Amino acid sequence: MKTDLDKLTPKETVRELDKYIIGQNKAKKAVAIALRNRMRRRLLPEALRDEVTPKNIIMIGPTGVGKTEIARRLSKLCGAPFLKVEATKFTEVGYVGRDVESMIRDLMSIGLTMVKKELSEDVKEEAAKRTEEVLLDLLLPGMGKKKSASPKKTSKNGQPVLIDVSELSNPAVAEDPAQTGTREKFRKMLQEGSLDDKTVEVDIAGGGFPSIEIFSGTNFEEMDLNLGNLGSIFGGKKKKKKVTVKRAKEIVLADEMSKLVDTDRASDIAKQRVEDMGIIFIDEIDKVASKEGRSGADVSREGVQRDILPIIEGSKVNTKYGIVDTSHILFIAAGAFHISKPSDLIPELQGRFPIRVELDDLDSNDFHEILTKTENSLTLQYVELLKTEGVTINFTDGATRRLSEIAAEVNSNTENIGARRLHTIMELLLEDVSFNAPDLKGQEIPITSDYVDDKLANIVKNHDLSRYIL
Ligand SMILES: Nc1ncnc2c1ncn2[C@@H]1O[C@H](COP(=O)(O)OP(=O)(O)OP(=O)(O)O)[C@@H](O)[C@H]1O
Ligand SMILES: [Mg+2]
Repeated sequence: MKTDLDKLTPKETVRELDKYIIGQNKAKKAVAIALRNRMRRRLLPEALRDEVTPKNIIMIGPTGVGKTEIARRLSKLCGAPFLKVEATKFTEVGYVGRDVESMIRDLMSIGLTMVKKELSEDVKEEAAKRTEEVLLDLLLPGMGKKKSASPKKTSKNGQPVLIDVSELSNPAVAEDPAQTGTREKFRKMLQEGSLDDKTVEVDIAGGGFPSIEIFSGTNFEEMDLNLGNLGSIFGGKKKKKKVTVKRAKEIVLADEMSKLVDTDRASDIAKQRVEDMGIIFIDEIDKVASKEGRSGADVSREGVQRDILPIIEGSKVNTKYGIVDTSHILFIAAGAFHISKPSDLIPELQGRFPIRVELDDLDSNDFHEILTKTENSLTLQYVELLKTEGVTINFTDGATRRLSEIAAEVNSNTENIGARRLHTIMELLLEDVSFNAPDLKGQEIPITSDYVDDKLANIVKNHDLSRYIL
């Protein structure tokens, strides 16, 4: 099985997460351990392996402190099938909306795409060879392949001047005697890329596999039926399209790769991987928790919790690629839990999330680190964006300190939106530069703490104003 999981010790995972997320060590540690436990479980004797269920996690923390970000980075880190969903997207079975089982189906298609991609890497070389032959056939229509070629006449001074496609389809030309030679010359030109700008006609499968999402409360069987119908409309039919040789190479290669990948094998591997290592991140879980005194909406929310329960507990979900057992999928739930508490979730669900981690509020020091120490930090993003216009901006340390202070101040004076505040502040700070950038080509603009105060101080002092602008 091909994943990077084995290399990821908990420490390594935390170290990777540290590159992007400041603080929140408890949460990082919890997800790192959970990830490692997946790997450990896989090494157990089979009888025991089935007994070990994942220790699902609830991340609790105010808005904008990195809950989703941790999950997002985690997904990029571990080669495991990963799906992020919002709990609020689901509705109780029987209501209009998505049913909870759709998350398993989605996870399965993510897993399959992943496995197919890996498998197609293995066949890439073979596919590239076949692609070349297909393209040569396209470029030299009517000419037999290398082996079957039976030359009759010699070409005028052996020069293949017949790049023009319309000329190529001319039978007189196509029956060129030095077929083998021509084919080899074309092969060389094809490899060198000197034919890249010429056009050829290729078959394009009817828009590829129609990827559609059906939002009405359809269950799986109905969806399959719909796909079947679509299949009969598009299925098998291929469209001819004129494209450049360069583009044709890509199209044909993708086509050949998918022909070479064994779909059954891919879905077997994917199923295994989803069952053993899949991770589902359920965001906004607090929004489906309800306090006593239930109104209509709350009842339906509780319904969602009840629907989620069996999936988390372990059940078998029917997907297009076979039945998926959800017993060992890891669930990470997250929510701000401002109004509701984890204890407002139905007890059975609480029990299914034994690990609770709280994320901390971010202060101005954290903001400073976020601005200066994270990989692809916000400051760097702006620097690079403006660089594309030939404008160089440099943030002094004083400026990033001042920005962090302002962010913390505005958060405490108005609403605490965590690190998202940095986005609004930064946008306002650089509004003028951004707007005028095309006229500032070649200039260097130092962003100092004075510059920051000049642009922002008045707004920060005026709480009402900052409520609207920042
Ligand atoms: N600790 C942190 N370190 C670095 N960046 C952070 C941190 N916390 C938040 N951010 C940044 O702030 C933005 C919002 O963070 P995120 O989406 O993780 O918030 P959240 O905790 O999921 O909030 P919500 O409860 O509103 O969903 C992201 O751009 C993220 O990069
Ligand atoms: Mg979030």
